[in-house]
Amino acid sequence: MQFIFNALNDLDELPSEIIFIPVTEGEKVPDNRSVVQKTLARENFSGKEGEVCAVPFEDNTVVFIGCGNKEDDFAGQKAGSNIASYIKRVKKECVSVCLPTLSPNEVASVAYGIGLGLYSFDVYKTEKEDKNVLVHILSDNPTETEKAFTPFAALMDGIYEARDLVSEPANMMYPEEFVEVAKQLDGVTVSVMDEKEMEKRGMNLILGVAEGASHKPRLLTVSYMNGGKKRPTIALVGKGVCFDSGGISLKPSKGMEDMKYDMAGAAAVLGTMSALAKTGIKANVVGVMPLVENMPSATAQRPGDVIQSLSGKTVEVVNTDAEGRLILADAVTYAQEEFNPDILIDLATLTGAMKVALGTEMAGLFSNCDELAKQLEEASQKTLNDRLWRMPLHKGYDKMLDSDIADVSNMGSRPEAGSAVGAHFIGRFIENGVRWAHLDIAGMAWTTRDKTCIPKGATGFGVELLTTFIKENSK
Ligand code: BES
Ligand code: ZN
Ligand code: ZN
Repeated sequence: MQFIFNALNDLDELPSEIIFIPVTEGEKVPDNRSVVQKTLARENFSGKEGEVCAVPFEDNTVVFIGCGNKEDDFAGQKAGSNIASYIKRVKKECVSVCLPTLSPNEVASVAYGIGLGLYSFDVYKTEKEDKNVLVHILSDNPTETEKAFTPFAALMDGIYEARDLVSEPANMMYPEEFVEVAKQLDGVTVSVMDEKEMEKRGMNLILGVAEGASHKPRLLTVSYMNGGKKRPTIALVGKGVCFDSGGISLKPSKGMEDMKYDMAGAAAVLGTMSALAKTGIKANVVGVMPLVENMPSATAQRPGDVIQSLSGKTVEVVNTDAEGRLILADAVTYAQEEFNPDILIDLATLTGAMKVALGTEMAGLFSNCDELAKQLEEASQKTLNDRLWRMPLHKGYDKMLDSDIADVSNMGSRPEAGSAVGAHFIGRFIENGVRWAHLDIAGMAWTTRDKTCIPKGATGFGVELLTTFIKENSK
């Protein structure tokens, strides 16, 4: 896909077979040809969200796209998504989208919706979909529109990056391979720790999870320190379990293939770092990604093992399938020791219970700081799909992690409130004074049906949310 920004009166010279015209509800359609007006009336087209009406001519087809309410902040992005669905279906090489009277930013958000909706992952298909569609975006002010599109393009690339990482199967995307992808990013500093270095430092929780796997663990750090001394340092920590079989506490085989997406937290962090570097914004952000594979084998850690974490605290590993919190505990300890962040946000496909509680519409937000929670919720509301719902932290949940043999257990003493208990486990490794939020994205990283701007598969959840949050809170 390639976007070209044109003026509206270029339309006659463009070789587009399909011309899209988005229309908001109740708006008069700006095409007075009688065949158009008659067809729209016959089809009862009123501009409602999701309505599509095609009027064929000799050389092209004009497709009207219903955008719904003018006041909806996401009307443009949603229209873009509907345009993308149409493009995918008709498989054309060149299309035009006419967007008169809109501001450059509004036009850019339509293009953003088209870009997100056109995503597909066909690396392993012998016959590829044709991805080289030219999309002409026609507006009143193409120069300003192209400028307005720059930050959207950076975001889109970051989301594509995250979706690609998550879509890759686990035989292709393992810790060392993830690191290779990170090394390709421009404008950031990448550092990598291997298992020997982790051993020296005492990152035994990460090493313990990786013990059963033949793919070696890595601790990946990507930093973007472009904000000077006055702006806060924000640490993003992403769960990077490239495959979660459960380990010795083996998962049932049904659905286990989904667990290639158990590194979606790390993918969101990397996608965000990429988006930040491309926009060049003033901010200080460090991304820390513990990368492992959780496998059962003769060398795997056992239920009941006691392990000393990087922080010094000892952990009883009651269930080897609660591995995300283990690797995150060492990773947040490292992030705090090394970078002394003002804010630490972790993202993880941490618990199946989160999916049960909030489904596939919102991720759970747990935080020790009301102000940070509010800032994250506000950023979330500025996005179409990266929505959050605040969940409680409470000492009763924390108590469920007490262990008879070690400082803390990796599983609650009762099966209830699994997501809050998981959050508290990470919380036990957060130092006093650090503003911390935990985002449980288990229900949001993958979708089994097409959503607006998200074709089924990897969603890229978190990239837009974090980028928006960082932009708003690094002033
Ligand atoms: N990766 C899973 C959580 C998960 C489940 C993510 C479904 C996405 C979809 C995590 O490592 C896990 O297995 N958690 C256990 C924790 C339990 C053993 C305390 C769970 O949720 O069952
Ligand atoms: Zn697990
Ligand atoms: Zn997991």
